[in-house]
Amino acid sequence: MSLTFALAHGQPSSLDTPLLVVVLPADASLTSAILPLDAPLNGALARTLARRDFRGGRDETLLLVGGEVGVQRLLLVGRGSAPLTRTTARRAAAIAARQANKLGVTAMHLWIPDGAAQADAVEGLVIGAAAGTWQYVDLLTPPPEKDRRARLAAVHVVTDDTDAMRDALAAGEAVAAGQAIAKRLGQMPGNYCTPDTFVEVGQDIASRHGMKLTVLGRAEMEKEHMGSFLCVAQGTSQEPRLVALEYRGGPADQQPVVLIGKGLCFDTGGISIKPAPEMEWMKFDMSGAGGVMGAMEAIGRLKLPVNVVGIIGSTTNMPSGEAVKPGDVVRASNGKTIEIINTDAEGRLVLADLLVFAKRFNPAVAIDAATLTGAIVIGLGHNAVGVFGSDQGAIDAVLAAGQAAGEPGWPMPTWDDYREQIKSDVADLKNTGGRAAGSITAALFLQEFVDGYPWVHLDVAGTAYSQSDLGWIPKGPTGTPVGTFVEFVRARVS
Ligand code: BES
Ligand code: MN
Ligand code: ZN
Repeated sequence: MSLTFALAHGQPSSLDTPLLVVVLPADASLTSAILPLDAPLNGALARTLARRDFRGGRDETLLLVGGEVGVQRLLLVGRGSAPLTRTTARRAAAIAARQANKLGVTAMHLWIPDGAAQADAVEGLVIGAAAGTWQYVDLLTPPPEKDRRARLAAVHVVTDDTDAMRDALAAGEAVAAGQAIAKRLGQMPGNYCTPDTFVEVGQDIASRHGMKLTVLGRAEMEKEHMGSFLCVAQGTSQEPRLVALEYRGGPADQQPVVLIGKGLCFDTGGISIKPAPEMEWMKFDMSGAGGVMGAMEAIGRLKLPVNVVGIIGSTTNMPSGEAVKPGDVVRASNGKTIEIINTDAEGRLVLADLLVFAKRFNPAVAIDAATLTGAIVIGLGHNAVGVFGSDQGAIDAVLAAGQAAGEPGWPMPTWDDYREQIKSDVADLKNTGGRAAGSITAALFLQEFVDGYPWVHLDVAGTAYSQSDLGWIPKGPTGTPVGTFVEFVRARVS
């Protein structure tokens, strides 16, 4: 099932490969770079391009049949008129990988004639190919042998500069490995992905990359007075988990970047129960936490010379006779009291205590990611992450990271005026501020628990999971926000 990546040097026309993928820009023509491929295909490439059967539009594909040996199949993939970036390369490679799996070939060569020595593009090809082959089949009965297709196992990236592209290949593999962790957790049903799953994944990452692991359960959280987090866990017999991973790649005295994730293994809404239609999607409500885990894996692989702490809070929001109910008041670990208006606004309650917990690591900056509000899906749809924060420099850096990683974010206001909406008559705060500006009041709620460090909040409710096939990403978890986290940390190195 695992995919291997390697660089391939030399003239693509003389490759012996079951599938050569050539990524071409809009208005593709028979350039001198691809001309040598025409002879082995007996002129089919020139004819196809002359007839304009393939024009290089974004996501366009055309398969040409090659010979018995040499280039056995040639797949043209269009990347459109946008400039060649990590994102455009990623998209083309994902489409190619999906096509490879349909064909049943086990190896493919990826070639971008005008970008073969562009590190960003090489990295994107690796991430895209991995995304295109990703699948979650643990719970499916395999089809009978005769109906099975071989799966893509080896990806070769064609480049004329293998030495210079080695790091790019490794970086792509690291990000892909991180995204695979996040996606797997996101697709796992709520009865398979439990808070203890985060402990297991945390242990695995910690042991492979030499990170320090801290795990808190209900009793430890009680000692920390995490009444906000704990009230969400009140309705479930599952042990809630706070998992912290410390990666120390930088100088001992360097303040860490702290990544924080909402890890609701399932969100029924609790006593303020959600309607039945589409409730099953709420297994993805741990995508922020999955993103933190994935980012820690990638950062560990990249061996970045920075200090990074990943913190996740995981539980399941369930109604029960013991569950927290509307009108209850709870006290968070910073002493603030919260009136619970709606038990379905549970993510912010978990994050509140995580943000207080983060303070002990003396963060240089903290970024949290959460599938926090349905309102962000209404506001920004499935194409942009909602970006909020208290520090413009950090916000700008996160926006730049998201852009580079192909997980674009969009800035949202956190003006004081909105704070009126979360004032309570009986407590310091209430946990919802009504329908208006629902994503903003959620962010302002979080801000009440940020103590003195620069902070950015990512609402990934619209972007962590896709309910439709996006072509280059199959229906399901997208891997967001792994790329943004990793890119943000990497940018601090250079
Ligand atoms: N996990 C949900 C947010 C969500 C809703 C994500 C729909 C994706 C699609 C969150 O815990 C939630 O239920 N938020 C409520 C808050 C409300 C009660 C103030 C929401 O958005 O409806
Ligand atoms: Mn909820
Ligand atoms: Zn939720």
